[in-house]
Amino acid sequence: MRFLLIVIGMLSAVPTRADTVMTAQVTTSLASREAYSQAIAPLSPQDKQLFLQGRGLVRQSWIISPAADREIAGLGPLYNRNACIACHAKNGRGFAPDGSEESMRAMLVRLSVPGHTLTGAPMPHPYYGDQLQEFGAPGVIAEGRAQIGYTEQTITLNGGEKVSLRKPHLNFSQLAYGPLPDDIMTSARIAPAIYGMGLLAAIPDQTLLALQDQAKPGSIRGRVNMVWSAEQQRHVIGRFGWKANVDSVREQTASALANDMGLNSAMFPAGNCADQQTSCHMAPVSGAPEIRPEQLDQMELYQLALAVPAPRLQDYPHIRQGARLFRQAQCAVCHQPQLRTGDFPRLPALSRQTIAPYTDLLLHDMGPDLADHRPDFAASGSEWRTPALWGIGLAKQVEPNTGFLHDGRARTILEAILWHGGEAEEAKKTVQAMSPDDREALLAFINSL
Ligand code: HEC
Ligand code: HEC
Repeated sequence: MRFLLIVIGMLSAVPTRADTVMTAQVTTSLASREAYSQAIAPLSPQDKQLFLQGRGLVRQSWIISPAADREIAGLGPLYNRNACIACHAKNGRGFAPDGSEESMRAMLVRLSVPGHTLTGAPMPHPYYGDQLQEFGAPGVIAEGRAQIGYTEQTITLNGGEKVSLRKPHLNFSQLAYGPLPDDIMTSARIAPAIYGMGLLAAIPDQTLLALQDQAKPGSIRGRVNMVWSAEQQRHVIGRFGWKANVDSVREQTASALANDMGLNSAMFPAGNCADQQTSCHMAPVSGAPEIRPEQLDQMELYQLALAVPAPRLQDYPHIRQGARLFRQAQCAVCHQPQLRTGDFPRLPALSRQTIAPYTDLLLHDMGPDLADHRPDFAASGSEWRTPALWGIGLAKQVEPNTGFLHDGRARTILEAILWHGGEAEEAKKTVQAMSPDDREALLAFINSL
């Protein structure tokens, strides 16, 4: 008995790692600019082939129809950018312009008018649709430009450190289809990263419902979004996009092809011309559908199979201290450090994995400062889906301009934390009140992910 107690004592004295260890098969130890571009390890020869084809399509620069090379034609008539990676550079996140003179390069602006469609989606504007497209093919007038300006405010943290936070203001110019109505609702969103999508897709719905129903400390709640699936023609739980407004990687991809680049597919046959945009409807198309189902299969598999960067330096005392503080400050209630995937027949390697995504995929009310006041299915104007934090420490390595939060307003991870409000108000206050050493450890931990 005595011996047993000593052994147990010794075991608990063994230093534990900072957090969950994910298996090597779904992670990559690469920490370079290519960290978000690696495949999970066990891919069948067939899936390897699809992965490479999908990679080609995600990197493809599409061209306007009519064109000699029909295979890569179909961009427009209206579009934001000509390639997925124009916004998701190296599969990473985008960023906001630094001021109103700069154009939006890796983000877009959603639009809607009050009310919702029959499926519960935001109601598109009759001329501008549900997204502002800044470019048009020859003969098709681009919709206009969106600019972001900022006002800065300084806050002081315990220990005296001063941090400047920039609050964005959106403006529109060169509006080609008439002024926007006073009750227009807008939402500026940067591109999130697209690695680890398969593991997030493999988390069972039941897990999300259980997380939703779990009692949580303080004012933290959290709920699933219910969204319309164009693929399944019914309402399902949403998990992708800044408001969990899309349910699958396949649909997100088909919708990006249609809305961001004007490429139609069987899922979105109509492309992105709004009801009243005559010149858009009359522009030449390269043949319907511009994206074939097998091309969508390839792009889907590529994103499902992108590995997640493995956390680094998890045994360092400073990082372990940060991991402890992350839990103590209740960050981990929303940014869940450990979840389990279910069965995922499409890619068995993703099945039954213990993962460290640092998200619950639930919507949380983040308070008035982060609100866009534009409901998206069940998500209110102040609710956002907890973003995954895995791999976030490499974001600047992959894209030096990278921004944080839905509209890229935060230039650093500390700024992102200091914008937290609503359900996360307490967590933010805890960080503000931390000693400088503790705050540094917390940031070191997040940067180690
Ligand atoms: C104009 C910039 C832009 C382009 C081009 C673009 N995206 Fe995105 N992407 C975004 C934005 C912004 C979001 C967030 C959308 C939202 O919140 O509704 C997003 C979200 C996503 C997501 C969900 C990620 C997550 O964590 O929830 C995936 C997957 C994705 N895009 C894939 C693609 C693919 C594949 C393409 C090319 C077919 C593409 N995107 C083209 C800007 C872009
Ligand atoms: C109530 C749930 C909740 C809590 C608690 C919470 N967060 Fe968040 N966090 C979110 C949501 C939701 C967002 C996205 C908000 C947005 O984009 O406007 C976010 C965004 C972030 C981001 C930026 C991620 C990105 O992809 O841009 C970081 C970093 C972050 N949180 C860290 C923390 C830390 C550290 C704590 C604890 C001090 C914490 N969060 C507590 C819900 C939460």
